[in-house]
Amino acid sequence: MCGIVGYVGLKPVADILVDGLEQLEYRGYDSSGIAVKTDSKIAVYKAEGKLQNLKDVLRAHTSEITTATMGIGHIRWATHGAPTVVNAHPHTCNCGSLVIVHNGIIENYKELKEKMEKLGCVFKSQTDTETVAHLIAHKYAQTKDLTKAVSLAAQEIEGAYALCVMHNDLKNTLVVTKRNAPLVIGVGEGEYFVASDVPAIIKHTKKAIYLNDNQIATLTPDSLKLINSNGEELSPKVEVLPWEPVALSKMGYKHFMLKEIHEQPDVIRNILFGKLHTPAEPIILDEVKLTQKDLKDLNRIQIVACGTSLHAAMVGKYLIEQFCNIPVDVEASSEYIYRHTVTDEHTLVVGVSQSGETADTITAIKQSQARGSHILIITNRPDSAMARLADSLIPVNAGIEVSVAATKSYIAQLISFYLLALYLAEAKGSLDKSALESFKAEMMLLPQKVEQVLGTTDDIQRCARVYSSTKDFIYIARGINYPTALEGALKLKEISYINATGYPAGELKHGPIAMLDETMPVLSILMNGSVYEKLLSNSEEAKARNARMIALTNSKDKKVEELFDNIIRVPDVQELFSPVIAMIPLQLLAYYIAEFLGKDVDQPRNLAKSVTVE
Ligand code: G6P
Repeated sequence: MCGIVGYVGLKPVADILVDGLEQLEYRGYDSSGIAVKTDSKIAVYKAEGKLQNLKDVLRAHTSEITTATMGIGHIRWATHGAPTVVNAHPHTCNCGSLVIVHNGIIENYKELKEKMEKLGCVFKSQTDTETVAHLIAHKYAQTKDLTKAVSLAAQEIEGAYALCVMHNDLKNTLVVTKRNAPLVIGVGEGEYFVASDVPAIIKHTKKAIYLNDNQIATLTPDSLKLINSNGEELSPKVEVLPWEPVALSKMGYKHFMLKEIHEQPDVIRNILFGKLHTPAEPIILDEVKLTQKDLKDLNRIQIVACGTSLHAAMVGKYLIEQFCNIPVDVEASSEYIYRHTVTDEHTLVVGVSQSGETADTITAIKQSQARGSHILIITNRPDSAMARLADSLIPVNAGIEVSVAATKSYIAQLISFYLLALYLAEAKGSLDKSALESFKAEMMLLPQKVEQVLGTTDDIQRCARVYSSTKDFIYIARGINYPTALEGALKLKEISYINATGYPAGELKHGPIAMLDETMPVLSILMNGSVYEKLLSNSEEAKARNARMIALTNSKDKKVEELFDNIIRVPDVQELFSPVIAMIPLQLLAYYIAEFLGKDVDQPRNLAKSVTVE
């Protein structure tokens, strides 16, 4: 989950690289670097911390780099070795003639390192990547052919990688390859761009080639040669990217996160558009390719996801079981892939991922696909590796999410699950007409209700001020809002670093209640519906232990005012749709607390938006 960029062409390269890295900052931001080919040498510049530090370094070297028209760049999220200048990419061989940038993890780097040390290589960094720089340089010394050298090295590497390589002998040549890590080549006029993701190239070109695993591309300003791992030449498939360049602007908001929270009513409208016209008409999911026979044979659904997407999946389970009466399991992809899992051709496997490139979820999907399961992917990136594996797709259309903490993509995933659950219910005939129509009518009202929540944030801001000095926070809920409690707590942890935990309220008395005293805030997600009274009793239990009580509620019940110290009110909504309405104030609460504490809201410490390592 680092970002790599590359350029070979006729234009000054440094600005292109730095601008590309800026678009990839969501992938990591603990250090960065570029290497450019000057007339006499390869010059490498690196900096610790945010990209701005690299820009400052480059400003002091402008005259050295203005004529360079080929280079590579990297923005890092540290895995092997601390985020220091030495560990920042690009990495070089002993003499500095060969440089590489890498995204992924080299699993056999220890063996390779020992081997290269025996051959006289001296290692400067603690990274796994440096072994690859030495290995390719060694192969190049033997072959004097950079493409061949990359191909030979790739045969010895285990793990995941997207690599971009250049050598001082070659004025105008970049070599790129990948395995289980994303890489896209932008095709310009007399120039090629390389990047981990489309935002880094889209302002230069809409023509792109997605490299498949184990392919190697050799790029010069006017040629692209593509080969497979056997050295056979392939014809590249140039695609037109369905993207417009987007100015990543905060549009007057202080942070991207706040802007993205406020975009949510339109995100819901976008996703519903073309899929749900009126309550009386069926849901249309064009890219869901399950046949009537598939649906008839389906005896189980398995959903795999990570992080925020996992919480959306938990709501999805609740909905599908409720609407369709099909058993659904949800599991963190990272757990799913390391045990004996039971899926077969009668299991529908649903992968949920904002980025579509989370390594654990991709592996889980590949495992189930190998066992014959139909794969349905819910993603914000229909051009991603995960979407390419899909038999069926639900693109969530949330637009680019810049802030690392997922907000609008979560709401879009929830809406996708409502659509999927209702679509399956229609196909299986598991809900009667009036229930279907009532659910669809409620779903169509969601954008307005979310707007209502966003319109009055005073209570939330007040709460944020009151509770910003706490060290711990407990969120409780039951039923369909248990995942909301988990996601609310995750948002707070991610951006304010307060230790927040979500519990199913019925579990409070089985242990966590020991934590309660007059310093502990307990936020109860108390939405009208089947578990309202039960949750109220659980809240009483917390109050009896002197906890500081906060209600997030749509209830008009007098008891709420007696029981809670602070109340955040939201509009009334059918219970099954309450996870959408309840989540918005929790996103805002996390935001305002982090903002009040002066945290780096959009780029919280240690996190990356896209995690391409297992
Ligand atoms: C990272 C992000 C989370 C995200 C998770 C899963 O950890 O910081 O916000 O929920 O990855 O990502 P995905 O793209 O698969 O939804």
